[in-house]
Amino acid sequence: MNSYPEPLTPNSVVGPDEFFRMPDEYKALLVHQMKVHTEGEATGADDYAKIFYHLTKDPYEKMLCCKLAAEEMNHHIMGVEVLKAIDVDVSYMAHLDMQDRKLFDTEVVKRIDTWTERGFFGFLSEAAAYAQIEEFGHSSYKPISEMAASILRDEKGHIAHGFRIIRDLCKTEEGKAEAQAALTRMWPATLDLFGRSDSKRSAAYVRWGLRRLRNGDARQRYAERTRPKLEKLGLHAPDNMANRKFV
Ligand SMILES: [Fe+2]
Ligand SMILES: [Fe+2]
Repeated sequence: MNSYPEPLTPNSVVGPDEFFRMPDEYKALLVHQMKVHTEGEATGADDYAKIFYHLTKDPYEKMLCCKLAAEEMNHHIMGVEVLKAIDVDVSYMAHLDMQDRKLFDTEVVKRIDTWTERGFFGFLSEAAAYAQIEEFGHSSYKPISEMAASILRDEKGHIAHGFRIIRDLCKTEEGKAEAQAALTRMWPATLDLFGRSDSKRSAAYVRWGLRRLRNGDARQRYAERTRPKLEKLGLHAPDNMANRKFV
């Protein structure tokens, strides 16, 4: 198997010309990583525009759904451009129905039925996406690390808004009980977002400097960062191993 003795350093593959000279394994991993990410961004746009927009009667919240949908679609377009520069065409993705997108395929982004779940989508699921895009910030492929910086700025706002929805809900005992029930349901699926801990692909990403952390380490860091924020609101995340589809 092709590999370098040490993981490639950030930005060491500076653009498409250098990319085309890299070994096939590197090229295949990078294309897969970017396709999953780019599809996820299109689904994020649909979440805000097609699902969340209809879950609220509040004009301010509807306005934010439109704004955040636009930001997600902009993230999608950035991914399309990075791939286009290396001759990979994913222009079909935006038009696909959400349920037909199979690369970033998870219930926590595709099955949001209540405003409370929408709050946790921002607070938890987008924070999980943030943790993964943070890794892109250290990518050995410079166009990816450059793309990550502006996405992360937007995503901070998305997470903060989700947090605000849940924080406001927790001001009453009734609201807190509703939040706790949704959290208990959504926590395991959110941890599953990081993928299998023994994933060979995640180890290969690290080897090629496309990420620093393997799936299991990224998941653990996320859980450690997120639990105290939940505790502050009086909410308790289930055990990290409870009700997981895979570990
Ligand atoms: Fe995004
Ligand atoms: Fe987002």
